[in-house]
Amino acid sequence: MKQYNVGIIGFGWVATAHIPAINASNSARVTAIYSSRPQNAAELSAQYGGPIKTYTDLDAMLADKSIDAVSICSYPDKHPEHFIKAAKAGKHIIIEKPLAMSPKELDAMEKVLKDANVKTCVCFECRYSSQFQVTKSVIDRGLLGKIHYGEVDYYHGIGPWYGQFRWNTEKKSGGSSLLTAGCHALDALLLCMESEVTEVTSYDTRSQSKIFKPYEYTTTSVTILKFKNGAIGKCSAVVDCLQPYYFHTHLVGSEGSLLDDKFHSMKLGTNKAKWSQLSMKMLDSGDVSDHPYQSQFQAFFEALDAGKEMALTSFADAARSHRVIYAADKSARTNKTVKL
Ligand SMILES: NC(=O)c1ccc[n+]([C@@H]2O[C@H](COP(=O)([O-])OP(=O)(O)OC[C@H]3O[C@@H](n4cnc5c(N)ncnc54)[C@H](O)[C@@H]3O)[C@@H](O)[C@H]2O)c1
Repeated sequence: MKQYNVGIIGFGWVATAHIPAINASNSARVTAIYSSRPQNAAELSAQYGGPIKTYTDLDAMLADKSIDAVSICSYPDKHPEHFIKAAKAGKHIIIEKPLAMSPKELDAMEKVLKDANVKTCVCFECRYSSQFQVTKSVIDRGLLGKIHYGEVDYYHGIGPWYGQFRWNTEKKSGGSSLLTAGCHALDALLLCMESEVTEVTSYDTRSQSKIFKPYEYTTTSVTILKFKNGAIGKCSAVVDCLQPYYFHTHLVGSEGSLLDDKFHSMKLGTNKAKWSQLSMKMLDSGDVSDHPYQSQFQAFFEALDAGKEMALTSFADAARSHRVIYAADKSARTNKTVKL
């Protein structure tokens, strides 16, 4: 397998999870870091066990021909600019969510990507989590039959105790509770439902707690979705809750149901009066050191080697989820159902 040299764009919290996950894959290493604040190359090389060049000029890092791919870990509102520059420089791209703060920016990224010979990996890494790998295999084995109702909800109190709070409270870099963090749940719901969304209706509100007062946008929303195959779904995105992190899943189908890490299936003849337990690790923390980046990045580098787009989290997969999110936020804003 070819060895891929990776440059990091934006050196903050999430980058400290990307670097070890990239280095742990058997085919890639972080060899460069671009940060607006000057970084100590010798210290970082020692910390991450290999030579790392540091840059304060993104164009200079992108001009380095030894770099094959970049990982965009900067603030959300900088993602489109950094993505477009990297794609034009011919670098393969790992990019953090959200891809962009508006559909217009997403369209611009898609346009540039069309003409660039590069592959992409969007950090909707929950698709690679134990919770959703197991959930998806229950669905794919037909154990739930045809799913006609699904809900995946995101409950994570993003208050002053969480590093992102300092920029996440701003409309320009947070956007909405669904875009900034609930996007993981909406994306997981689309993974489970396997049909195109035809329309969405969304409502939003906010906590009365003064802890969440700095937010420039509403911090709780609920979105009802209609799918092309007749199924319906729901996604709550709650970043102003005071409770443990909870990634709730409830899927209801013609042969059974799945609730978080439990299920019942007529196909297996399990006892309908009691849930049967699934062996999985539930997503239970917003801590980036706990996220399944390593298996996601490994899948990306293997796809690069095979000259293919990666499964599950390419730009095309993630763009589909973002378009549903933008439509949901428009629905909440305008008090109207939005068709896709
Ligand atoms: N997938 C996930 O579960 C997950 C988890 C945490 C963060 N994230 C995402 O990762 C991204 C970064 O979040 P974070 O928590 O690391 O934030 P952070 O504030 O810790 O780090 C962001 C870094 O980017 C740098 N930066 C911003 N603009 C820059 C620019 N123009 N040039 C150079 N550097 C720039 C900042 O200086 C900062 O060091 C966000 O998009 C966030 O949504 C995703």
